Amino acid sequence: MIELYAAPLEGITTAVWRAAHRRIFGGADRYYTPFLSPNANLSFQPKELREITTGEPDLVPQLLTNRPEYFIWAARELEKMGFRQVDFNLGCPSGTVVAKHKGAGLLTDPRELDGVLAEIFAALPHMAISVKTRIGRYDAAEWPALLAVYEKYPLHQLTVHPRVQKEFYTGAAHRDVFLATLRATRLPLVYNGDVTTPADPALTWGCPVMVGRGLAADPALFRRIRGGHPATRQELRQFHDALYDGYAAWMGPAAVGRLRELWNYLSARYRDADRPLKAIRKAKSPADYLPAAHAILDGCPLTDE
Ligand SMILES: Cc1cc2nc3c(=O)[nH]c(=O)nc-3n(C[C@H](O)[C@H](O)[C@H](O)COP(=O)(O)O)c2cc1C
Repeated sequence: MIELYAAPLEGITTAVWRAAHRRIFGGADRYYTPFLSPNANLSFQPKELREITTGEPDLVPQLLTNRPEYFIWAARELEKMGFRQVDFNLGCPSGTVVAKHKGAGLLTDPRELDGVLAEIFAALPHMAISVKTRIGRYDAAEWPALLAVYEKYPLHQLTVHPRVQKEFYTGAAHRDVFLATLRATRLPLVYNGDVTTPADPALTWGCPVMVGRGLAADPALFRRIRGGHPATRQELRQFHDALYDGYAAWMGPAAVGRLRELWNYLSARYRDADRPLKAIRKAKSPADYLPAAHAILDGCPLTDE
């Protein structure tokens, strides 16, 4: 059966989201944490520790840095905590990240990338190291040189999101580039990009598939891909309430901000929700937020009803 991975989505696929997703919708084969940023302090921040101390056996921590020594420190700490795999973020397109030559910024110069990977792989021979990458900084023509660098190392897996940095998340993913790579490389590839339905052809390509926004919008997507039923109104309500309660226990009224972000995706499941969605976007407190959220959860028809 095809392996299905939940992509890291900063601010969305937190430990709170993962626990609710596993319990209500049957989970994913693997979840990736939103990126952790090891730095010169050589300590994880409290909010990072929250993500990796929950004892989730299906969890892969992801690291964002351009300094091999920080990566190596963090990977060894994670190994001590029981993790067998760490993921290297080489795809984040954010301007501030890229300007520091991190994330997709490291794709600008294949020699710099090679130097970083050489140090990391030399220092961590027993750790499963996977990479999540884009196919270039400016142009897909950069991809063969980047792939040649990756092919020098025993990557546990290479997740390819076939867009270049400057495309951010716009336009269509370059699936042709991924398919050509899948045929040509011996590296174990994982496909990531724009999968939103069980009918997506990427699910027939024979490699694992990682899904981000499609899963945030339809948390039952993996169950549907495996032949199960779509999310019911009751499940979505349960999911929402588990997230609200989890975030409220963690951060108090600031939970509203987290839930607002979630609705950017979840709203796709409901029809005729414009008015309460507007109220959700403006909500500053639980007293503004909760009635609007429940107006949708209890009152708006599901798109597949
Ligand atoms: C809000 C948001 C946050 C993201 N955070 C991360 C992250 O922390 N690490 C990472 O590797 N990718 C991150 N991504 C990229 C996704 O993991 C994924 O590669 C991208 O959304 C494309 O896949 P999709 O079309 O299935 O969503 C993020 C994307 C979005 C939209």
